Amino acid sequence: MLVHCRTVSLFLCLTQTHTSLDCSWKPTQVQREHANCTRTEPGSNPCPTPQARSCETVDYYGRVLKSTSDLKSNACLTPATPVAPAVRRVLEEVHPEVTRRYYGCGMVVPECLEGCRVLDLGCGAGRDCYMLSQLVGDRGLVTGIDMTEEQLDVARKYVGYHTKKFGYKKPNTEFVQGYIEALQEAGLKGSFYDIIISNCVVNLSPNKKHVLKEAHHVLKDGGELYFSDIYCSHRLPAEIRTHKVLWGECLGGALWWEDLLRLAEEVGFCTPRLVAASTVTVGNKELQSLLRDYKFVSATFRLFKIPRNVSNESCRVIYDGNVTGHEDFLKFDAYHTFRKNEVVTVDGELASILKMSRFAEEFTFQDHAENKTGSCCVMPKVGAGDCRKLP
Ligand SMILES: C[S@@+](CC[C@H](N)C(=O)[O-])C[C@H]1O[C@@H](n2cnc3c(N)ncnc32)[C@H](O)[C@@H]1O
Repeated sequence: MLVHCRTVSLFLCLTQTHTSLDCSWKPTQVQREHANCTRTEPGSNPCPTPQARSCETVDYYGRVLKSTSDLKSNACLTPATPVAPAVRRVLEEVHPEVTRRYYGCGMVVPECLEGCRVLDLGCGAGRDCYMLSQLVGDRGLVTGIDMTEEQLDVARKYVGYHTKKFGYKKPNTEFVQGYIEALQEAGLKGSFYDIIISNCVVNLSPNKKHVLKEAHHVLKDGGELYFSDIYCSHRLPAEIRTHKVLWGECLGGALWWEDLLRLAEEVGFCTPRLVAASTVTVGNKELQSLLRDYKFVSATFRLFKIPRNVSNESCRVIYDGNVTGHEDFLKFDAYHTFRKNEVVTVDGELASILKMSRFAEEFTFQDHAENKTGSCCVMPKVGAGDCRKLP
């Protein structure tokens, strides 16, 4: 499997000049390329390079789209799934102008946020930042980064409004202009954040590996990247990847989900854990015909940064029921739901994630379970489905 993946990676780097897996595009180029970004007229030729594609993305989110109703497909719309009352309450507190410019495709509300430092990759007008600002509280920090000034202008305009509304003495939210492929160049510190979220943005990056690498760098050990994005059932061909509207609508740049698993491993993250997935309906006949039989899903994954030298033995864990809003059970991912006071055996990787992350205080650990085979004894209980069975 590993050999197969490495071969595929090498093959892609050799054969594709400007795909999402382009190996030659270095973060140091990012600032320079974007600094020279000139605006293009809508309807001009499809963008030929990753850099030009980013310029067009700036254009799309800065000038073409003014609100959710300007979208040309349903891809950048969060599926209408039930929202927990606590989340609905915090969303209602966000200023309507910020909410109008929300273009996310999934809910990014990880658990256990109080006091955490959170980074939002491609924060746009800041809806998720202001939602999380309430959940981390005044001891926490939310940093939003985006490359599009027009989006950031809206986000920054309401820092004071939300600080006052949430009753904080000083803002716990900040917005940085920069590229998600170059977080260090944007001035973000290494090993600083507890959690990175992102909502429908990584698909827009011409270099997804750099995004994951940089995210890994700025996360603390035990930190996690919790993000929703659009994935495709297969690798997309050039004519779809280079179509400007399909790209801007978060479809053209969608990763084949198996590539996410491979890139995450190459960068040093643990195996991506699927939280939820739902089918994307395009809702536009013209775009749908260009997409032929390719299927898309909006999926949320959690990727943890755990040092490689940590012991990887399966163990028994007991959830204590103390996470706010998850008192009876904690749905950790699509396959693991921990019920309060229930003893379950987890595989070595999940055991080290729980022990090393902010979840450590929420569990009791009983080491050296009888089953040391590494297989997991917690059976799937809730159904987002195996990502291998995504449509
Ligand atoms: C689909 S919108 C999502 C915005 C926001 N997360 C939300 O849910 O409303 C994509 C955003 O990502 C930003 N973006 C795309 N590629 C980027 C990159 N390479 N670096 C920084 N921001 C990027 C765009 O400027 C845009 O604001």
